[in-house]
Amino acid sequence: MSKFIINGQRPLKGEITVSGSKNAALKIFPVALLTHEPIKVFNVPEIEDIFRAQEMLIALGHEVKKTGKGAFELKFKNQKSADLPAGLVNKFRASVMFVGPMLVKFGEVRFPHPGGCVIGAAMRPIDMFVDNFEKMGAKVELSNNYYRLTAKKLKGADIFFHDITVTGTESLMMTACLADSETLLKNCAMEPEIVSLAEYLNSVGAKIEGAGTSTIKIKGVKKLRGGEYKIIPDRIEAGTFAMMAAASNAKIDIKNCEPKHLEALWFLFDKIGVNYKLSKDSISISPSKKLLAYDAKTHEYPGFATDLQPPYTVLMTQAYGSSLIHETIHDRRLLFTDSLTQMGANIVMADPHRVVVNGPTKLYARKLVSPDLRAGVALIIAALISRGKTEIDNIYQIDRGYERLDERLRNIGADIKRIS
Ligand code: EPZ
Repeated sequence: MSKFIINGQRPLKGEITVSGSKNAALKIFPVALLTHEPIKVFNVPEIEDIFRAQEMLIALGHEVKKTGKGAFELKFKNQKSADLPAGLVNKFRASVMFVGPMLVKFGEVRFPHPGGCVIGAAMRPIDMFVDNFEKMGAKVELSNNYYRLTAKKLKGADIFFHDITVTGTESLMMTACLADSETLLKNCAMEPEIVSLAEYLNSVGAKIEGAGTSTIKIKGVKKLRGGEYKIIPDRIEAGTFAMMAAASNAKIDIKNCEPKHLEALWFLFDKIGVNYKLSKDSISISPSKKLLAYDAKTHEYPGFATDLQPPYTVLMTQAYGSSLIHETIHDRRLLFTDSLTQMGANIVMADPHRVVVNGPTKLYARKLVSPDLRAGVALIIAALISRGKTEIDNIYQIDRGYERLDERLRNIGADIKRIS
């Protein structure tokens, strides 16, 4: 496995550019199944999860042609199979996004229960996908952990999500575009990536209303045209870099981002006393006098994003006072705090969803392993402010979601090397 070697306490300074959003870009690949016409996509981050999504689309009979940096053309060639390749499904959870489009376009899809992130209940459930496709008329068979869904035609349904799910909302929204009559989705996720996807789908003939609110109405249409889609900036990357700069007391300009997608973080920055300035598409962080501890509770958008919780927890190890961090969305997403404690942080786990961080504490280098992509980057931030040389193993997890991260960090003065 590849690893990062990081010598901490280097002064960081300069400019870092944010990539296209992983969680927006991933969804255009299942959407490509819904049309035989070409789709041109731009500002796609070139990361492992995107490569897996491209491999999945190719396995299902599409051509994926790279037309430039972060630019691809997706085109239907011929439907090769109804099987989602098990090797891919077990690599990343977002593979479940291909189920609906396969079902509504080709009438059949077979796949094993998806794997991917270690966060979330051991086998992150997919009941809100399978049960709702069944509600739209699909026949569902499950034998030794393998699903087979078939449907002559999907019909619109009235669907309530028992939990707010981003990929569930996106999956049912894109699938319902080609289903009969009308589908109503209630208790939807409201992430900017969902709004962006709905805007793209409407630009190619879909009839979607309400994306970005908790109720989305989709009128089925006969077909979708091909089109062009520019991926929005990655708000999680932008927020993560902002917290990295604040934790390392650096002067960093974060470019090509959408500060309006991070209201919950700016609320926290005001409470903590981070010295920051926002423009329409950039964030400037300067050294702060003193960081104050402040409680944070993750919540679906527009609340404080669960994907920003790990870097925030590292930031709180450098703040004066005690902060309660409450992770309400994913199980196991606080387990990485064990590594921070080994590095010298003073963190008490109140229960699997809550930790109390007492700061500020000096952090010291350790040999670590990246559990998931967001905790992995949080450990990189901890390493950048630690004394000594930290080793972080299993950096595939980091490469899943961050493009050329070590290169971009070196450009602002970090001493980070990749050892394959
Ligand atoms: C999306 O995951 C993101 N992934 C996640 O980002 C993000 O953390 C999450 O939204 C919350 O913002 C992508 O967009 C690819 P879920 P999502 O598993 O919507 C329950 C990252 O780091 N649930 O649906 O797929 C589930 O157990 C990743 O970029 C069911 O019960 O999250 C959880 O409690 C990590 N049944 C909740 O819903 C289902 O069928 C939401 O989790 C599906 C989900």
